[in-house]
Amino acid sequence: MREMLPKRGRREEVLDRLEEAGGLRPGVAARVHRETGVPEADVYGVGSFYHLLSDPDAGVRVCQGLSCKLAGSDALKADLEAAGTKAGFVSCLGRCDFAPASWEAGSEPPPPVTALSPSHPDFAIDLAAPEETGYEALRLAVEKGADWVCAELETSGLQGRGGAGFPAAFKWQAIRRQPETERYVVLNADEGEPGTFKDREVILRRPHLVIEGLAIAAHALEAGDVYIYVRGEFGRVKAALIEALNEARESGHLDESVTWHFVDGHGAYICGEETALLEALEGKRGMPRMKPPYPVEKGFRSKPTLIQNVETIACVPAILKRGGEWFKAAGRTEAGSKLYCLSGHVRNPGVYEAPLGLTMAELLELAGGATGTLKAFSPGGASSGFLPSGQLDVAMDFKSLAAAGSMLGSAGVVVLDDSVDMVEAALSQAVFFEDESCGQCSPCRIGTQIIRQTLERYLESRDPGTLADLTEVAWGMGEASICGLGQAAALPLTSAMKYFPEEFGLGG
Ligand SMILES: Cc1cc2nc3c(=O)[nH]c(=O)nc-3n(C[C@H](O)[C@H](O)[C@H](O)COP(=O)(O)O)c2cc1C
Ligand code: SF4
Repeated sequence: MREMLPKRGRREEVLDRLEEAGGLRPGVAARVHRETGVPEADVYGVGSFYHLLSDPDAGVRVCQGLSCKLAGSDALKADLEAAGTKAGFVSCLGRCDFAPASWEAGSEPPPPVTALSPSHPDFAIDLAAPEETGYEALRLAVEKGADWVCAELETSGLQGRGGAGFPAAFKWQAIRRQPETERYVVLNADEGEPGTFKDREVILRRPHLVIEGLAIAAHALEAGDVYIYVRGEFGRVKAALIEALNEARESGHLDESVTWHFVDGHGAYICGEETALLEALEGKRGMPRMKPPYPVEKGFRSKPTLIQNVETIACVPAILKRGGEWFKAAGRTEAGSKLYCLSGHVRNPGVYEAPLGLTMAELLELAGGATGTLKAFSPGGASSGFLPSGQLDVAMDFKSLAAAGSMLGSAGVVVLDDSVDMVEAALSQAVFFEDESCGQCSPCRIGTQIIRQTLERYLESRDPGTLADLTEVAWGMGEASICGLGQAAALPLTSAMKYFPEEFGLGG
């Protein structure tokens, strides 16, 4: 639901109205059409795109992300059904540290406490530290001005923590160069990449860092509105942020000329992609836009828009208070400290902050090591594919993992022991990408389906001949898909085939 939003466009109201109506139940599309003037078929098309709206009576949603699959989500769903409870699978619930996870709309028990790294003076976020509410960095930003803010950001070398690793300062500077003065700041809190649950913890534990970072961005970019897009299953997370915003307002820290808006996600992973998120904000299906133009130039309502991940924005206050040089030096191979999520076959699943570029072996050690004999790991969410245990010395940074044919992505590390069949693991990721493809472009829409079907056929027959066309399909997806989902969706398969060929009947 949109809060604190002066209703502007009628189309922008469509998702709110569908949500208020409890989802796409019979008669709802016609009613929303009457209320907004948007054609009924269009309203239906929007509602049917979003899992939480299209199937409002799904019952208990059981996560089938890889970590949950490894921890027995199939058995959990079967047990629920055997007990007479309606249950269905869902792609990801952002609770890989408490696998197998399940969730029912409208009921959100308090989250159990995840494992964290102990507080450390060189951490930019420092999840275990007590919350600071002085808004000292915002005061400095106002006092010293936007040039100083952007210069510190540039010195810091801060790269976006949402997946792409794009330098934050470039985006801030690009927006400041735009002649258009209607500008927006958007927080991407849609965290939906299986294996990733760091943004959840940042907001639950350090919500004031997030509010302060957003306020600094709005001030530096002269944006009049801040939009906070929170994934629909994260009700408590959103509540923590609203509470922090109210506290900051009551304490007089915030510029009252900025309007803050909260918008709920509705269960579509693709809306984490920045342009799909903008489409969702505008009340449409979350289908990624062609880029360029980039959001810094034409974003929300075609106006210059800064879209930043939760962890990225939460790094900003520490950078301004302690200096860009301090932040840069806190990393090992790349700038700053970084939050890594560990789940799967690991002793202490949780969120660990460490210098960007520590090795996978060191990271595993932080989480107490693997629970069995390590076989493989997925370094950065489903999109990053798999690396074998022989590559434990890889630096967990953007460049090194790209050089290894993988990616740091959102740093959602899933650990696999030698009990795992890599064909099953690749299939689990293939199911995810097929379910979450927006269907807009054919290489992704058809390619994800072919990969899933082929792997299922191979598992039945174990005949390597069934896999014959997959390399070509994967190539087409990587080359011709519009967005990062389709471009990366074949990587779990191709990496598993590369490092574990014998499991695909391809000899060693
Ligand atoms: C399929 C897909 C899903 C994504 N999901 C998220 C997400 O859940 N959260 C996020 O912050 N970025 C996500 N991103 C990255 C965003 O497109 C964008 O790069 C990011 O929000 C920019 O913020 P940053 O520079 O601070 O990382 C996703 C990208 C793709 C291609
Ligand atoms: S690559 Fe997939 S998710 Fe991305 S735009 Fe194309 S169909 Fe949609």
